This record gives sequence, structure tokens and C-alpha cells, in this order.
Amino acid sequence: MRTMTVGVLGGGTVGQNVLRLIERRKSVFDDLGVQIEVAGVLVRDVHKARDLPAGTRVTGTCDFLQECGVVIEALGGIEAPLELLRPYLKSGRPVITANKALLAERWDELRPYALGGKLYYEASVMAGTPVIGPMSTVLRASTFTRLQAVLNGTCNFVLTQMEAGRDYASALAEAQALGYAEDPPTLDVGGFDTAHKLAVLARFCADGAFPYEAIEIEGIEGVTLADVQAAQAAGERIKLVAELSREGEGWRARVAPQRLPDTHPLCTAGASRNALVYEGEECGPLIFAGGGAGGLVTASAMVGDLLDLLIGFPGHVPLH
Ligand code: NAP
Ligand code: HSE
Repeated sequence: MRTMTVGVLGGGTVGQNVLRLIERRKSVFDDLGVQIEVAGVLVRDVHKARDLPAGTRVTGTCDFLQECGVVIEALGGIEAPLELLRPYLKSGRPVITANKALLAERWDELRPYALGGKLYYEASVMAGTPVIGPMSTVLRASTFTRLQAVLNGTCNFVLTQMEAGRDYASALAEAQALGYAEDPPTLDVGGFDTAHKLAVLARFCADGAFPYEAIEIEGIEGVTLADVQAAQAAGERIKLVAELSREGEGWRARVAPQRLPDTHPLCTAGASRNALVYEGEECGPLIFAGGGAGGLVTASAMVGDLLDLLIGFPGHVPLH
């Protein structure tokens, strides 16, 4: 039995579920001949009550990073995780992250590590619904033409609740309580989280250096109950849609609320599910749908990344 020492940055919604899932799936690690040893969990407030496996070391300093064979980043933000991960990545060791803001906005620095197979980030887009895996492997053989997706669980939840007549503010408060929303939730409702995810995806199917700044962004803050109800009356639904398509020699990427027919795959996927329609010349249209936010569904992708690493698969390599 070999030992893999894991460091976890963040003991919030995602971090706690990752640690619980590693504990629950112990037999899968046993089958691989690997014992997982958690060196520490970095948090801000060490006194906060948390649901963690007994004996987990919760700390406000990350002195444990040096002894880790892999770091799982579930901190959020951009500068704080980057400062912590920079020396760790420079030492050639792998990182598993759910942090699409970091990936989207600091890609110039992170891209070489991703190209080197050192970054695992399935959870960063659609959480536990695998899209980055297929895009970074089999779908490369097909000529990508267009994608259209609902990528934010918070907006989806808020808009669905508004369809039932609920007001925007109380629906958003519940999405926060459910652990779906970013900190701050403006990242969700302003369309920025969806744009972060679209940037991550674009680097697998359009351009390996696709800049986040190229995405046109409009959120759902301006959508009213009357808008939602008017759409419903016409057999349509309002969704915050991410789109990437050819425009001349380049690409157009945009995030905006759209009215879609009830029968559209982005609507039929289900009220609280993310969905993505991928179009490639050779593979034809593909539909991915599933949970896209929440602690456990996100942890399932991060622990899956950890298993990939232990089996010897590289991280998610973008277009060269
Ligand atoms: P969260 O519940 O707010 O947890 C963040 C954790 O990081 C907390 O434990 C917090 O400590 C700690 N933390 C934050 N900044 C810190 C700092 N500067 N120093 C030390 N500790 C710090 O957030 P989350 O929902 O787990 O999300 C984590 C990441 O996963 C984000 O990048 C998010 O975008 C991504 N993600 C989330 C979901 C989801 O559904 N929640 C899905 C996919 C991806 P305290 O607990 O002491 O405050
Ligand atoms: N805040 C994000 C969402 C979490 O609502 O989709 C998952 O990335």
C-alpha cells in the first residue's frame, strides 16, 4: 500500500464534501493500493463548526503544503489561491481545483501547467457532470462548431423559482443557503461565473489561449417576474445562456438571458440542472445534463480527478 498525502485548501461547502467522499469511497482507494493521508485543511476561521472526518487537522496556515503529493483547492477567489498554489505548481506537483474564476482570469500563468497535465479541473464547469473530460479527450477528433449551455445553478434556481411566482431576492437567498452561490453572489447573477466557465470550455474547443475578457456578459439582475411570466405564457422559459460560435475567422462568446422554447434541450434538462449542447461536425450534436452546483456533486468530480491522478491519467490538457 502506498500513501498519497493530500492537502485541502478550503473547508467550506466543497472542501467538507470532498473529505467526506474520500472517507466514504475508501474501498476504491484500497483497490488501487493507495492510502489517502490528509495533511491539513486550510480555513479562515478554525473555530467554525464543520462536518469533517474525525481527526482532520483544520488550520489557518498552510505549513502542510510542502509535504503534499497533491493539493485540492476549494478556496475560491483569485489572488489568495494563486499565491498559495504558485510555489507548489512550480515544484512540479499536481493541483485539483474547482475554481473557474482562477482558471478563467489567470490562464496566462496557469496554462503551462495545464498543458503539462498538472491541473485537474473537471469540477470547475458543471460540477459533477463530466464535460471537461470528454472535451479534453475524445471530442478533439471532431471539428467544433458551436456550443450553447446553462452553466450556473444559482441563476437556474432563481429563474425557476420566479416561474413559480417567487421574488428574486428570496430565491437568491435560498440558493445561497443551499450552497450553490459564489461569494459574492454577484458573480452568479451578474453572469460572471457563467463567463468564467465558458472561458474554460472555449480553451478545449476553440482556442487554447481564449481570453476571458473576450466574452460579452449580461446577467439576470434585470430579469423581472413579469418577463419570466410573459415567457411562460408564450411556452418559453428564460435561461442564462452561454454561447460560443464561429464568427468570421474567429469566435463569438457571450453570456446573456435568453427566451427559449420549453422543448429546447437546455429547458428539458430539468429545473435545477445544468445542460450543454455541443455541436461538432463529425460527432454531431451532443447533450450533457446534470447537477452543476452543490457540495456533493462538486466533490464527486474532484474525487474523480484524484482517482484519475492516482491511476496515472494526466490532468485536463487544453488545445495547444
Ligand atoms: P465556501 O463554502 O465559501 O468555502 C470556502 C472555504 O475556503 C471556507 O472554508 C473558507 O474558510 C476558506 N477560505 C476562503 N478564503 C480563504 C483564505 N484566504 N484563507 C484561508 N481560507 C480561506 O465555498 P465553496 O462553495 O466550497 O466553493 C469553493 C470553490 O469551489 C470556489 O472556487 C467555487 O467557485 C467552487 N465551486 C463551488 C461549487 C458549489 O456548488 N459550491 C461548485 C463548483 C465549484 P472559512 O470556512 O473559515 O470561512
Ligand atoms: N455558483 C456556482 C453555480 C457553483 O451556481 O453554478 C457551481 O459552479
